[in-house]
Amino acid sequence: MMNFSASKLFPSGNAADLLVLPMFEESLKLGSHWKKLDPKVDELLQDAIASGDFRGKTQEILTVFLTSEKFPRRLALLGLGKKAEFTLEGSRKAVAILAPLLHKHRIKKIAVQLPLELPKNARSVEEATAAVVEGLLLSLYQFHEYKKPDPGAPLTKLENVWFVLNRPTERVKVLSGAKQGELLAEAVNYTRDLANHPGNVMTPATLASEAKTLARKFHLHCQVLEKADLKRLGMNALLAVNQGSALPPKFIILQYQGTKTESPTVLVGKGITFDSGGISLKPGKAMDEMKFDMCGAAAVLGTIRAAAELKLPRRLIGLIPATENLPSGTASRPGDVVKALSGKTIEILNTDAEGRMILADALAYAARYKPELVIDIATLTGACVVALGTDYAGAFSTDKKLLTKLQAAGDKTGEKIWPLPLAPEYKEDIKSSVADIKNLGLEGKGGGTITAALFLQEFVSYPWMHLDIAGTAWTTSGKSYYGKGATGYGVRLMLEFLK
Ligand code: BES
Ligand code: MN
Ligand code: ZN
Repeated sequence: MMNFSASKLFPSGNAADLLVLPMFEESLKLGSHWKKLDPKVDELLQDAIASGDFRGKTQEILTVFLTSEKFPRRLALLGLGKKAEFTLEGSRKAVAILAPLLHKHRIKKIAVQLPLELPKNARSVEEATAAVVEGLLLSLYQFHEYKKPDPGAPLTKLENVWFVLNRPTERVKVLSGAKQGELLAEAVNYTRDLANHPGNVMTPATLASEAKTLARKFHLHCQVLEKADLKRLGMNALLAVNQGSALPPKFIILQYQGTKTESPTVLVGKGITFDSGGISLKPGKAMDEMKFDMCGAAAVLGTIRAAAELKLPRRLIGLIPATENLPSGTASRPGDVVKALSGKTIEILNTDAEGRMILADALAYAARYKPELVIDIATLTGACVVALGTDYAGAFSTDKKLLTKLQAAGDKTGEKIWPLPLAPEYKEDIKSSVADIKNLGLEGKGGGTITAALFLQEFVSYPWMHLDIAGTAWTTSGKSYYGKGATGYGVRLMLEFLK
């Protein structure tokens, strides 16, 4: 946990190792109080600005070393761009520029002046402050479970953040926003940790034991259905995917009772701990990335964790079907037919379309809770990456209003979505000649993200939303405030949507 403080004053020499002054392009100036504070520092910064070395553009930073005892040793001018374009996401991205500097000097205590203007999509000072803390913590995150950090490239962990206020009356709001930002970022980084572990470690059993640990820590209820339970229930779509794996499947049920309201919201996360494609084997290139095929599951765990910590007044149930998808002598074959939990028969035409199989049983299971809403989140189709790239998740719903609300949540959190249609025209494409439905659309016809969603819809009997996070769940090169690896996409989005 970090320490936050907030004051109208700047921290003196040893209260922080870095003072951050954000500036908009249009108002590149220091307040008149600077001259009184320290005429030398004032002159130094005025000169730096007048020289044109710092223009306040986005992604811009200018650091100076100070020798005044009144100030921290380092000061950074941070560009915020144009006032009219300043958003919550803009402030996350702006502070993320600091991460390499913080790591390099192992800075643990920083002071950040809050911008005079609120981001244009912020409702409150709380939200604006939360975004700053999120940007800091998400950009500082590194996963080094299996490799010691390079001694030449030190890492830091922030301990103290001192907010320099413009209006002293905002103190309480700033501190509460900072706490919320920290809580959210930690839930996201927890999700990233789960997802970054390789497939040999983050197995279905590990995922289940992580859910149990979470339940113990945050007073949740957790139940894990074992293979025998799944057989008894008739979850044959999930079992069919598991058939090729030496590891048993798990079906994780995690409940948070933030209220006694009758109808809960159910969150379903795809938990394929490694997706080789099965008998319909994937090509070798980048197959290692399929350890991330449980990012939906990890996002569900992170979301429920944060909801519990925030004491969200909601009833949430997380459902995670977990298994590997591997080829073997016992694996499912293309052409196999199984009877899913709902009673529908599925012809498996491609064993690599396994996500929709395990979700079919989880979505059918969700009905028993008489949910107000079910949201499923899954790294479901490569086609979604083709359609929307890596910045937008594909979103489907039976209810347009829910999508509008989700889009607004995405605008705030920076976890953007784009609506796609549950096109009735394509329902034909998943008809099978031997079973009720097949797990594959028409070869060569495109629209694979839509046919996958239509397949899921066959197992849904309540208000529903489906998120395809194939493009957003991890990054191979790093992007905005994320380093390489899992992004924890969906945690902040779902929480913003639910709150
Ligand atoms: N987990 C993959 C989807 C995926 C691929 C996510 C690449 C992120 C990056 C999923 O199980 C899958 O293999 N889908 C197939 C479906 C096809 C066989 C209909 C795909 O997208 O190729
Ligand atoms: Mn697959
Ligand atoms: Zn998959």
